[in-house]
Amino acid sequence: MKRQQPPSLPGSLPLSRRQILLGTAAAATALTTQSRAAQRADLNQASLAALAAEKGLLLAASFAVHEMDASYGKAYAQAYIDNVGGITSELCFKMGMLRPTADKLDFGPADRLTNFAQQNGMKLRAHTLIWNDALPEWVHRLRAGEIELLMDAHLLSIMERYRGRVWAWDVVNEPIGPWDKLPGNLRNGPFYAAMGEGYIARAFRAARGYDPMALLVLNEAQTETADGNGQIFRDSLLALLKRLKAEDVPIDAIGLQSHLRSDRPYDMPRFVGFLDEIAALGYAIHITEFDVNDVAYSGSIAARDQAVAKLYRDFLTPVLAHKAVKVLTFWQLADRNSWLTYGAKEKGMKRMPRPLPLDDDFQRKPAWYALAEVLKGTPPR
Ligand code: XIL
Repeated sequence: MKRQQPPSLPGSLPLSRRQILLGTAAAATALTTQSRAAQRADLNQASLAALAAEKGLLLAASFAVHEMDASYGKAYAQAYIDNVGGITSELCFKMGMLRPTADKLDFGPADRLTNFAQQNGMKLRAHTLIWNDALPEWVHRLRAGEIELLMDAHLLSIMERYRGRVWAWDVVNEPIGPWDKLPGNLRNGPFYAAMGEGYIARAFRAARGYDPMALLVLNEAQTETADGNGQIFRDSLLALLKRLKAEDVPIDAIGLQSHLRSDRPYDMPRFVGFLDEIAALGYAIHITEFDVNDVAYSGSIAARDQAVAKLYRDFLTPVLAHKAVKVLTFWQLADRNSWLTYGAKEKGMKRMPRPLPLDDDFQRKPAWYALAEVLKGTPPR
């Protein structure tokens, strides 16, 4: 190709190479600043849920009904109406909430949540039916046979009541727990102790019977990091899924919680390879509890928000581009409602975490714009 001579401006000396480069850089900066601003203005009009839906994705967030009773309750509910097409119960479908005592079922909060989802045309994920953690204290006093009865009774009573209104059930949460040193790196707890690994297959088979229409999900934590812990979780989960598949256990989707941390390493090609392996087994993938714990980011709030937005972009761009990924769920939507914020307050920490797309006043943060940009660029499935 013929090289072009540097342009010369009338009445001036020809521009030096350095001047041209500087000029080009300045022009490029002006252009990106301009197009960023234009893009931002454009994105301001966008609804995240609609952008996601255009690409065949459901955008969702966990929801806690008691937040509606706070002084900011109206803004809280409105943030969901404005931003998401689905909600996950953060608390009220957990056994401790539904069964505070051995002889009582409390449906109040779950009914309220279900009504909110229905009134606003949102898909509802019920989280979670069977989990070896966070159980009401009385469950730990049951004998093995009673645990089996409890599991069956629990699935029946909850699923019968809410079927038709629940879109997806997190049937089993966090089956992996390498620290318990059990075969397959499974997590210990009352259900495992009573039935061994078989509790998982038994729960899913019963769940399919009680609600044949809803999606049945196995949800797991800690699979995302590129360190040894992430590798153990990924390997153990894949091995478990292969065993469940071989037994024809009815599972529709695998939930990956994706609580990211600013002080952990991520290797996206490796993680995408893991998504490929889940997809190859025939499962859909749901990102179920996304947030970014920004404890390790230093500097001003603006600098931290930029760093969080960057991790959103780096992680979500390849993940949402994966055809098996159908859902992105945040763990709450606004920083003030995050479990990380409540945790930091409990510990008396001075610096509050900023893990979510909206700030304490339900206003959009750089992470919100990062997500909107990622969604715009995501190929449709
Ligand atoms: C958390 C809630 O956010 C907290 O409010 C509660 O105190 C404890 O549970 N993985 C899960 C979720 O599957 O159920 C957890 O939710 C967060 C980690």
